[in-house]
Amino acid sequence: MNKQSQLERLQREITDKGICSELALNAKNLVMGDGNVDSNIVFIGEAPGKAEDEQGRPFVGASGRFLNEMLEAAGMVRSDVYITNIVKYRPPNNRDPSEEEKQEFWPYLMRQLEIINPTVVITLGRHSGKCFISDLLISRDHGHARIVKYHEHELLVVPLYHPAAALYNGSMRQTLIDDFLLAAQVAKTGSLPEPKI
Ligand code: URA
Repeated sequence: MNKQSQLERLQREITDKGICSELALNAKNLVMGDGNVDSNIVFIGEAPGKAEDEQGRPFVGASGRFLNEMLEAAGMVRSDVYITNIVKYRPPNNRDPSEEEKQEFWPYLMRQLEIINPTVVITLGRHSGKCFISDLLISRDHGHARIVKYHEHELLVVPLYHPAAALYNGSMRQTLIDDFLLAAQVAKTGSLPEPKI
């Protein structure tokens, strides 16, 4: 079965099993993910917002426009990467997803990553980053690649600030772009960068 069909089957399983059924009740769409299923880069945000819920695609609102700019800085477009979220339904009034909601979706996110099998996972924002790196301090750790173990898998994770942070803070724009350029380099080599001396 090809990757697209496997992802569609996973999506059906999420609805059939009633994962986060309370969120599903208020959501217009299950926002599974978008982009190139063969990419070696997967971005992981937190949860869909209003625009994402309406269109059924992740990062299509204001944060998404900045994400596109980051990609452009690395000579990429959206179809070069795959983009998803930890929680795949919009929480009401854009509240933060709860621990329980993140935990309910976690095994499905892991299976999604197993199917896509990227070289690098780029988390967007501290909530998403903390799901992978429990002692994450985003101001210290942003842009630093880490190997994260999950069962028998090893994931190369680069935590980034959330693109929404750049919308209100000019200096954050450059930080995000620089961190993403580095993450794209890690994706190319598939290994941790040499430590700077
Ligand atoms: N913020 C996120 O974390 N995810 C989206 O899909 C949109 C905004």
